[in-house]
Amino acid sequence: MSWKKIVLSSVLTAVVVGVVVGVVVWAVMREEEVAPPELRKLDWWEHTVIYQIYPRSFKDYDGNGIGDLKGITQNLEHLVDAGVGALWMSPIFQSPMIDFGYDISDFYAIHDEYGTMEDFVELVKKAKELGLKVILDYVPNHASTYSDYFINSENRKQGYEDYFVWADYKVDPQNASARLVPSNWISQFGGSVWEWSEKRQQFYLHQFAIEQADFNFRNQAVKDEMVKIMLYWIEKGADGFRVDAIPHLFETAPDENGNYPDEPLSGNMFLRPDQAGYTTQIHVRDLIELYDVVYDWRTAVDEWAKQNGSETKVLLAEAYANISMTMLYYGDEKGRVGAHFPFNFDFITALSAKSSARDFAYVIRHWLTYMPQGRVANWVFGNHDQSRMPSRFRDDMVDGLNSLNMLLPGVAITYQGEEIGMRDGFVSWEDTKDVAALNQGNASNYLEFSRDPCRTPYHWNNSTSAGFSTNVTTWLPVAEDYKEINLQAQKDVSVSHFKIYQSLTKLRKEVALSHGEYDVQALTQNTLLLVRYLRTYDTYGLVFNVGTVADTINLSGITLLSEPLTVYTASVQSSRSPGNELPMENLTLQPGEVIVFKAPPT
Ligand code: NOJ
Repeated sequence: MSWKKIVLSSVLTAVVVGVVVGVVVWAVMREEEVAPPELRKLDWWEHTVIYQIYPRSFKDYDGNGIGDLKGITQNLEHLVDAGVGALWMSPIFQSPMIDFGYDISDFYAIHDEYGTMEDFVELVKKAKELGLKVILDYVPNHASTYSDYFINSENRKQGYEDYFVWADYKVDPQNASARLVPSNWISQFGGSVWEWSEKRQQFYLHQFAIEQADFNFRNQAVKDEMVKIMLYWIEKGADGFRVDAIPHLFETAPDENGNYPDEPLSGNMFLRPDQAGYTTQIHVRDLIELYDVVYDWRTAVDEWAKQNGSETKVLLAEAYANISMTMLYYGDEKGRVGAHFPFNFDFITALSAKSSARDFAYVIRHWLTYMPQGRVANWVFGNHDQSRMPSRFRDDMVDGLNSLNMLLPGVAITYQGEEIGMRDGFVSWEDTKDVAALNQGNASNYLEFSRDPCRTPYHWNNSTSAGFSTNVTTWLPVAEDYKEINLQAQKDVSVSHFKIYQSLTKLRKEVALSHGEYDVQALTQNTLLLVRYLRTYDTYGLVFNVGTVADTINLSGITLLSEPLTVYTASVQSSRSPGNELPMENLTLQPGEVIVFKAPPT
């Protein structure tokens, strides 16, 4: 071979090797670029669905017309079937039931109408076997006036003197024999927060019903007792707590002469002077000291979990507060941590049937914008204090709202009945049981205050008392629409709110939903677009017409979406079925219609 040939073949070999090496390097780099990202393993609660049970109205086992623990235990399969991961039970502790369990007389005992400690242990055992977590309600702000704590305090028993907020009366300059309340503060259920105790010859403070006396959180013994109660139930198997009424934990302290300041009047002319909101509540809620208590609770439950090598015990804060005070429950600037999350009530307090898609997008972004980095969001659509989701919004929005709940990042919370679209039941004035309505209402206006309509019994089927009880008389009447809206009927058909709910909870296992980014925007005045995406994983999204007229949209300009878009599930009124391909342009949605779709990775 001539030297020229040798040079030529060496050059060729070098080129070929170079190309091959180049291709391999490019392929490896590309592989790295497109390889699925390392996915952080989520803690059990971070992407779960929590199902709120209102024990009095879920299922009556013994036939007395009142729900009970055995009724819950017997029906835990429903929760598994629905695809939820945890249940939160409203209070199950011994109570005279003035506020249906939120007035606890014995924090260490099960309420007798609900069952026994053995029933509770059994419930927890079965829940664990089924893979469900059990979250209890924890009510630290107040105790029943029938509790030993209060009785001891009223009697000034040593160690209990300052367990509650006691105050002397104010002297009336016009009438020396009259006793004036210490301040103009108004209870959440109407009337003064101050109630006179003949026995102790002092007023005690109650931010809710007269029979719910507020603990004094400036007393270390109270703080210690509250931690003890939490740990007691953790030892019994609780996986965490929904913490009741936290914004009310503290009130402004009296000055050195024992005088309490009045609150300024709000100027709201639609309210009576004895209604909450007549004053601007600057002395009875959101006091900064309360956060220290919450952070201490977090330390206590974390410590317990660490010492016992157990899974995380969660704290979920019930706080209706402005966004800054709400976010402080997550933790503070100094790095202290509090609740795993404060409930996000924005779908209840900031949106309604009249809201536009822009309102929805704005409200969703509001929470996600203010939430501290790295924390977990959550979404609440109803509870035992609020009108039910389809009654507050519209019947035709049930699947759309459930779809949002399931597709938004973080934890989804479902109040019993939302999975089947239960509406408020009608409860007459004669049948009214809610203390908020009895205190503030009369036969003509009680529905403005009553929480009974959202607490009527669960609709299992179309038999006696909707299958809730064998008794024809139930503690609250069963809503009249139970023959039309009930679980069994929705299981028996191929398209129903429940079937859609089931497919949505299944969908949550997709990586784009558990770990993905989000984009939410109003495509038009009425149609909302939510997209969840993560690199190489399938994209999922929804379009939801929140309006009352049909709406036509275009998706072709949305860079996160590429064809084909395939229907994953759609609302009961939709003409689209799972598997259908969706047009990117001129897509018409009926009022309230939602379409959940799958798209190729972004
Ligand atoms: C909030 C609870 O959800 C409500 O039902 C109760 O009446 C008050 N806190 C007082 O405990």
